[in-house]
Amino acid sequence: MPTLRRFIVLALLAALISAGANAAAAQGRQIVNIYSSRHYGAMEQMFVKFTQETGIEVRLSQGSPQALLTRLEQEGAQTPADVFFSVDTGSLVLAAERGLFQPIDSEVLRANVPEALRDPENRWFGLSQRLRTIVYNPDKVDPSELSTYEALADPKWNGRLCLRPATHVYTISLVASMIAALGEEKTEEVVKGWVANKPQLIDSDTRILETIAAGGCDVGITNHYYVGRLYAQNPDIKVKIFWANQEDRGVHRNVAGAGVTANAVNRENAIKLLEWLSDAEKGQAGDETGLPGGNYEYPVNVRARLNPIIEAFGTPKIDALPLSELGKYQKAAIDLLGRAGY
Ligand SMILES: [Fe+2]
Repeated sequence: MPTLRRFIVLALLAALISAGANAAAAQGRQIVNIYSSRHYGAMEQMFVKFTQETGIEVRLSQGSPQALLTRLEQEGAQTPADVFFSVDTGSLVLAAERGLFQPIDSEVLRANVPEALRDPENRWFGLSQRLRTIVYNPDKVDPSELSTYEALADPKWNGRLCLRPATHVYTISLVASMIAALGEEKTEEVVKGWVANKPQLIDSDTRILETIAAGGCDVGITNHYYVGRLYAQNPDIKVKIFWANQEDRGVHRNVAGAGVTANAVNRENAIKLLEWLSDAEKGQAGDETGLPGGNYEYPVNVRARLNPIIEAFGTPKIDALPLSELGKYQKAAIDLLGRAGY
């Protein structure tokens, strides 16, 4: 569809949805509209529990972080979205830079979300932590052979790696964190080394793990919670986690998090949702009703209990890079991945 027509269709859609929202408000119904790039089931338990406890109805629209960002921008003041929820810090930073969020002055959020895991200007808040690390088949690899992301550029891994494609935000943010730590030149050398090892590029962390377990490759890089999920289904699966870069900067951390949109119609409900999600006993619960617990992520709230499967993974050293820096190097990371032929 040509851009103008697509824009008009989107604007009409937005107007329709926002008319629906106004009608709901007129009937005294409380709602919150979320644009979410979380892709772990149609409606996660935590939203169901939030609605049960607060009476606020949750309406979800799902898509990739990039697609939802574009949609928010095109809809402008007409957007029905009150909350933008992303699985990647990079897109939260971009949304803030493009003026799509409003700052939220909340004592609850400041107390529940550590400073390093939220925007310095309080426009977005991390709500769960995901560690992107090395995974391997214990029949094929001894953990003593593993050390860092960089070391996977060694020719000994030729034909043995499974990685996520360059287009995915998880790859982009990992490379952004490497640029922050090593500089562009060194990072490019490493990425070219990965490419020279002819990795299988698979656009699903779960499928990467299944391929490793089936002997299709020996080593990969995935988010830790996908391993947690597989262990819950099959504790004997032939995949193990190796915490990367423990002798230097630590394993790469990203957060899933959210902000209240600049034009939120249901602003108060949106703030209530974020506060609820950051609460140690509610949205941060270590069971399936909590945002981190239900998805085997690490909570951001230090008072929250861990999911037992995650507790067994231990407490790795985590890259202390302030999360706002991940956003800063997104474009450089995309360009670098292109130059390296990834
Ligand atoms: Fe994910």
